[in-house]
Amino acid sequence: MIPLRGLAVILTFVAGPALAQEFTTLKGHGGPIMGLSVAPGGQVATASFDNSVGVWDGLAPTWLDGHDAAVVVVNFDNAPLLYSGGDDFRVLEWHPDGSAKEITRHLGKVSDIDILPAETVIASAGWDGFIQVTWPHMDHHITETLRGHQSNVTSVELISDTQLYSASSDGTIRHWQRDDTQWQSRVVVKHGFGINEMIVTDDWIAYGAVDGGTRVIDRESGQQIKDFTLDRRPILAMAWHGATGQLAAGDGQGYIMMIDTTSWRITRDFRATRRGPVWALAFSPDGKTIYAGGLDDVAYAWPVAYLDEFDPAIDGNRSFLRDAATMSNGERQFMRKCSICHALTPGPSRKAGPTLHRVFGRAAGTVPGYPYSPILVGSDIIWNETSIDALFDEGPDHFIPGSKMPMQVIREAGDRADLITFLKTATKQEADQ
Ligand code: HEC
Repeated sequence: MIPLRGLAVILTFVAGPALAQEFTTLKGHGGPIMGLSVAPGGQVATASFDNSVGVWDGLAPTWLDGHDAAVVVVNFDNAPLLYSGGDDFRVLEWHPDGSAKEITRHLGKVSDIDILPAETVIASAGWDGFIQVTWPHMDHHITETLRGHQSNVTSVELISDTQLYSASSDGTIRHWQRDDTQWQSRVVVKHGFGINEMIVTDDWIAYGAVDGGTRVIDRESGQQIKDFTLDRRPILAMAWHGATGQLAAGDGQGYIMMIDTTSWRITRDFRATRRGPVWALAFSPDGKTIYAGGLDDVAYAWPVAYLDEFDPAIDGNRSFLRDAATMSNGERQFMRKCSICHALTPGPSRKAGPTLHRVFGRAAGTVPGYPYSPILVGSDIIWNETSIDALFDEGPDHFIPGSKMPMQVIREAGDRADLITFLKTATKQEADQ
């Protein structure tokens, strides 16, 4: 059903073209996705354990094979040039014709790459404990090595070609400044536990650590602005979308936490990968979609707007086929929480889940032609008011462990009841939705 190597558009859910929101899956890699980057034009680059880099443009992925080991980081900020680094200790620069040029080499795995928009300077972080700053397009290819961390460097952020920040497993963030010939550094954060991820803006520095520590400090004063630490660990990925002020953090349990950096509030917190950690995160250019990669060998594109719990205050702005205000609560529940993956009409659909047409009284796992997970095919569940209620009271991960349906819970019993009332009628209609 889904092409093995290709972009499967599982859902197109639109009110108008400007509000197009899609849940898509970038499928084709032969190993976990360790790195993600979105070009300003919207092309997505993926770095995988299968040693290749994927470039996703519309329906066609292009595979860039040049690393001799797992690729763990990609940077597409300067498309069409693409930078990648991996377990083969190398940083490669990819050209639009698919050829690659080695930019620099570390003495350990390359964990991060940052570039300045003008593409004159590239910084790479290595598990050798070093940061390398390279000017590849000068008359002479120059590389400088910055030594100071006591352990793996995990993240690097260039401010200018003479200033950068780095984070390390040694539990610190360092600020580096180059005077005429020398790079000098000072410690600006001492977290204690290893720091995996860091985002630096003009105003603040956010970082995520192996102990789950998720903090934001003022860049000038070093004062803590906010502590978002939840009792989960470790933080493995972070992404930032400046125009919409969204900060995302992905963790070892597969969750993505979204933070509004204007109000410093957690706005969403959801399970993004079917199993295992979130290794990679990136926003689409408009900030409406977040890409997540992990153990699943696929990258998921989640429409940010669908990741929320229902909030009447912002109801009017959503992109529904009809104005949400004219819907019953049950229909709204369905539109927000289920319609992204389920049709109500008979026949095959391109959605990720089986159609719910005539689901009441149906034995689980019996829509012809739908590739269910074995657990559903083998189960003796009959779908009715009680079982559907339990499915979203407990969450699919508890009710049918091993199911492909992503974890989600509908907390309010009233919302579940309204949803079921809506489904009872809607799943009986022959056409229309
Ligand atoms: C992100 C996608 C996604 C969302 C959102 C989602 N589902 Fe599912 N659902 C699935 C998938 C995939 C399956 C098939 C599971 C399997 O094979 O393990 C499924 C299976 C089901 C089944 C079992 C169907 C059968 O034929 O046995 C029911 C019932 C169901 N979903 C109801 C819902 C309802 C109600 C909602 C909204 C509250 C919802 N789902 C939200 C993806 C989703």
